[in-house]
Amino acid sequence: MRPESPHRGTTRALSVAPMIDRTDRHFRFLMRRLTQHTLLYTEMVNMNAIVRGDRGHILDFDPEEGANALQIGGDAPTMLAEAAKIGVGWGYTEINLNVGCPSNRVQAGCFGAVLMRRPEQVARCVEAMRAAVTVPVTVKHRIGVDELDHYDHMRHFVDVVLAAGADRFTVHARKAWLNGLSPKENRNVPPLRYDDVYRLKRELPHVAIEINGGIKTLDQAAKQLEQVDAVMIGRAAVDPPMVFAQADQRIFGAERTPITRVELVHQMVDYAARFAGPTFKLTHITRDMLTLYAGISGARAWKRALAEGTSGVGASPQAILNALHATEQAQEQQLAAQQTYTR
Ligand SMILES: Cc1cc2nc3c(=O)[nH]c(=O)nc-3n(C[C@H](O)[C@H](O)[C@H](O)COP(=O)(O)O)c2cc1C
Repeated sequence: MRPESPHRGTTRALSVAPMIDRTDRHFRFLMRRLTQHTLLYTEMVNMNAIVRGDRGHILDFDPEEGANALQIGGDAPTMLAEAAKIGVGWGYTEINLNVGCPSNRVQAGCFGAVLMRRPEQVARCVEAMRAAVTVPVTVKHRIGVDELDHYDHMRHFVDVVLAAGADRFTVHARKAWLNGLSPKENRNVPPLRYDDVYRLKRELPHVAIEINGGIKTLDQAAKQLEQVDAVMIGRAAVDPPMVFAQADQRIFGAERTPITRVELVHQMVDYAARFAGPTFKLTHITRDMLTLYAGISGARAWKRALAEGTSGVGASPQAILNALHATEQAQEQQLAAQQTYTR
């Protein structure tokens, strides 16, 4: 048996999933305003891009984002180890290997979910990364792929990769069909199989297991934590992100008072001012804010004013404050209309 990992105790109960084109540095900055304790992931970055590409562009993040996990895609142990080392040198505090992405492009590169078919290769990758860095090396995977979709296949995968030193397994609780379903369909069509993840945890109580897939609220996350060590939320974190304003209190028991929408908007204006300029597209930052008022009074005014005011290259962060002003006016009007109606 391999010795206990020194990182086992570092698993955080809640994380926001890696999502390409979504969990970029601006999104993570916004999320960090909402929650100090939740683990945030980057988008998946190809190992080649890290080793050979424009590292500053790919890896830079704001110190105020705090500790984040870098998710890497690849299947070559030596290059993954190199990429992991670069990532840790850049300040990332966890390295995660993607064994869950079913896109054709990723399959053509022989990594992502297709690696579920090659547990020994994943083990070699994890072993190489483990030897290269001292931060946790974790794996995000599916329950299975194609015909390899029985619990025993996943258990075998986990056993082999665990022996190589993986510190945590994040299970997207559905299989992926590698041919015939698009990535989007692969996030919705195969049924969720939470029981397989619970069984994995029961059978391997000493191994950190995180569950992912279809979890939308902090109440649902808290319920999942009765069965597993951690919960990863993806799409529901984007739409709407305010769900996470309660996370530190609700999930981590912290005493922090949740940030208000107005405070958040002001902080994001200051943040946007650091990037603003004639060639900068403010929507890179504000697209994650469009649903800030979702479900409450002023939602439509906010969305419209923010979208209109921030479109185009070189828009000023002042547009965000203008949208806030328009929203507050709309809220006052709605309140006045309600009072008239009930009088
Ligand atoms: C737009 C988008 C991009 C995604 N990109 C990644 C990615 O880069 N790496 C990864 O492991 N999973 C990726 N996923 C999958 C999510 O991490 C997550 O496993 C999936 O959405 C299921 O969780 P949810 O039901 O909470 O959204 C992506 C999902 C979405 C919606």
